[in-house]
Amino acid sequence: MMTKFLFFSGKGGVGKTSLSSATAVMLANRGLKTLLVTTDPASNLGDVFHQSVGLLATPVAGVDNLFIQEIDSVESLRLYKERALAPLRELFPDDVVRSIEEKMSGPCTEEIATFDQFIDCMHRPEYDYVIFDTAPTGHTLRLLELPGSWSAHIEMSAEGTGQTCIGGVEALTASKEQYDQAVQALRDGECTQFVFVTRPDRIAIEEMMRSSQELQRLGMNKQMTIVNGVIPEEDRAHPYAARRWTVQSKYIAQIQSMFTGRIVEMPLYPDDVIGLGKIEEVGRDLDHVLAV
Ligand SMILES: Nc1ncnc2c1ncn2[C@@H]1O[C@H](COP(=O)(O)OP(=O)(O)OP(=O)(O)O)[C@@H](O)[C@H]1O
Ligand SMILES: [Mg+2]
Repeated sequence: MMTKFLFFSGKGGVGKTSLSSATAVMLANRGLKTLLVTTDPASNLGDVFHQSVGLLATPVAGVDNLFIQEIDSVESLRLYKERALAPLRELFPDDVVRSIEEKMSGPCTEEIATFDQFIDCMHRPEYDYVIFDTAPTGHTLRLLELPGSWSAHIEMSAEGTGQTCIGGVEALTASKEQYDQAVQALRDGECTQFVFVTRPDRIAIEEMMRSSQELQRLGMNKQMTIVNGVIPEEDRAHPYAARRWTVQSKYIAQIQSMFTGRIVEMPLYPDDVIGLGKIEEVGRDLDHVLAV
């Protein structure tokens, strides 16, 4: 089976980590080998599973077939610089290497280093599913928009001096071919699905629609939306919940009128989604609506 990719994105606090974790556990429990990757520098994935998350895929205790990993821009920048500088240390004096290192500290280097790690996660044929729990929207799009500029750097360096904007291309572990394959996979609806998590409120919806359009512009068209935190039907008779439901239903109708992909709803739970028992419960609810 070809690896499938799911990208969870959305505004801060809407439930990306909860729902991506629940999806990952649900798939792993079906016997599918699953990797859950967080690209959020302030991720709480570790808290959700009560274990630490590192730069390498680690098995989740208590769930067969599930692995978690993080893409850490600071750490990937460090590793990336080290790979680029190691050969230079043998050739040049310390002060020269230090000055090269300083030149490598721009935002461009950090983005490319992070993207290099991201490409690596797009090439894990040993997994059936790779699920990305991404940072709030803006950051994710920056990561996905990189292909264009990254490609330009590689092409320039292939023609010219062998230099990208940050140093020798040999510091990149991802090859041009791997990169092209990743971009192709992102645009292939058979491989990749973008899952927008939103709440039935105005700001979350606006942000979701903005990123949906951005992704369409990049040719990434297989999209769905999960409206998270919907007041369950049996509770709508309660006066407090009824008022909330009136507002929610208005926004749900708005999403239905604007978003062209599949739209599903997830209920508001009485408790936070923390710990394996709770995640599995949410995973069972998701199994009914997600169709993955
Ligand atoms: N359907 C739900 N019912 C009740 N609580 C929920 C629901 N979905 C998420 N939560 C809770 O809402 C909070 C935010 O959820 P979560 O951390 O998954 O959001 P996030 O989008 O990953 O946030 P961030 O942008 O900060 O990473 C958490 O405390 C979580 O347990
Ligand atoms: Mg999160």
